[in-house]
Amino acid sequence: MRGNSLAQPVNNGEAFAVIIRPAKNILGAIRLPGDKSISHRYAMLGAIAEGVTRLTNFSSGADCASTLSCVQQLGCEVKTTADGAIEITGRERLQQPSQSLDCGNSGSTMRMLSGILAGQDFECELHGDESLSRRPMGRVMVPLRHMGAEINAGANDRPPLRIRGGHLHAIEYTTPMASAQVKSAVLFAGLFADGETTVEEPFRTRDHSEQALRAFGVELSRSRNRVTIRGRQKLHAIQAFIPGDISSASFFLCAAALFPDSNLVLENLLLNPTRASLLDVLTALGARISVLNLENQHGELIGSVKLESGPLKGTTIAGGQSVALIDELPVLAAIAPYIEEGIEIRDAKELRVKESDRIAVVARNLRAMGAECEELEDGLRVPGNQKLHGAEIDSAGDHRIAMAFSVAALRAEGESVIHGADAARISYPEFFDVLEGIVER
Ligand code: S3P
Repeated sequence: MRGNSLAQPVNNGEAFAVIIRPAKNILGAIRLPGDKSISHRYAMLGAIAEGVTRLTNFSSGADCASTLSCVQQLGCEVKTTADGAIEITGRERLQQPSQSLDCGNSGSTMRMLSGILAGQDFECELHGDESLSRRPMGRVMVPLRHMGAEINAGANDRPPLRIRGGHLHAIEYTTPMASAQVKSAVLFAGLFADGETTVEEPFRTRDHSEQALRAFGVELSRSRNRVTIRGRQKLHAIQAFIPGDISSASFFLCAAALFPDSNLVLENLLLNPTRASLLDVLTALGARISVLNLENQHGELIGSVKLESGPLKGTTIAGGQSVALIDELPVLAAIAPYIEEGIEIRDAKELRVKESDRIAVVARNLRAMGAECEELEDGLRVPGNQKLHGAEIDSAGDHRIAMAFSVAALRAEGESVIHGADAARISYPEFFDVLEGIVER
């Protein structure tokens, strides 16, 4: 029987929960809503570009809705057209918002928008939900202050942030941690600075800001892990299709890899090399992956991916690979017990300051399912060849945890309840319906 009642909403009187029952196989062809990272960037750059930016397949997640509502509060017209496209009318100067900007759960909104706000001639505040209010902002405050912005935050540099922008000067900055959000904030501020701003990072992070800036007509140069941008360049509106979110796709790809007869096709998927490392890892583990119809749109690679499963061995993920896979590590750890030799994850301390402490929360949920695993300061060691049982899973309000453990639950014995499953709306509200459509039971 196919799909039906795989995922059932349960009313437990608190947050929304979903029951996941074991599956036999994953089969189907799907298209994903637009990539979250690219949607944020196109919306922010559209706000400061000349003309109307028209975006199709914009992310359906709540995080990108937070960015759009901030952009609106900054005086830009944001319209959803009859065909579902988002149209943003840019402004030469953003308008001072009348209220504190609500970034919801979205670290990307708060950190990257700070870069743009550092260049505006007004004062404003950014706040977020409980999870975002616990996340570190010192990482953007330090370089933006060096550039001349006044920024204050709460205790330990946690939100809310108050920014008084204007009169920026260019800097050369080496980020202490590999963070695309920090790199982007500095590059965006660099647009409003006199001179050339350079950002250097310890490991190469996703390059969507560089690709997006070029698409909007900005010249920048890169050599190895250094990017340089000249200030005071004009941006011009674009029309773009946003490729399917590969981080959302990772849940289906990992699920398909777990069952011997799976056959899954993902169309129009983002395949930017700085984001597609999951395909290399799954191939190294033993899945058979083919890529078809590759295209380049605004510097972003798009293609169709087909995955057929094979016996999965084991791997260690560390260094630059952990950086490239930072959002996919929870689901890789969640499937690791089913893989012959398991997975070890190192150099991923950043996971501790995401929407939840993803190292601790993954370890706790794996143990709830009866798995053995070792929690390390900078990662996890999950032995392979384990049998897991269904369990009560706590998403800790974190979208990627809710989805990762829904995948782990498909191979467990007995059903699992994913508490706080509604967190999936942050990046992928359609997740449970789509999962139900491709599962064979
Ligand atoms: C993102 C960068 C990463 C990632 C986040 C999105 C981006 O965060 O975890 O989900 O779009 O630039 P960091 O910059 O904190 O590593």
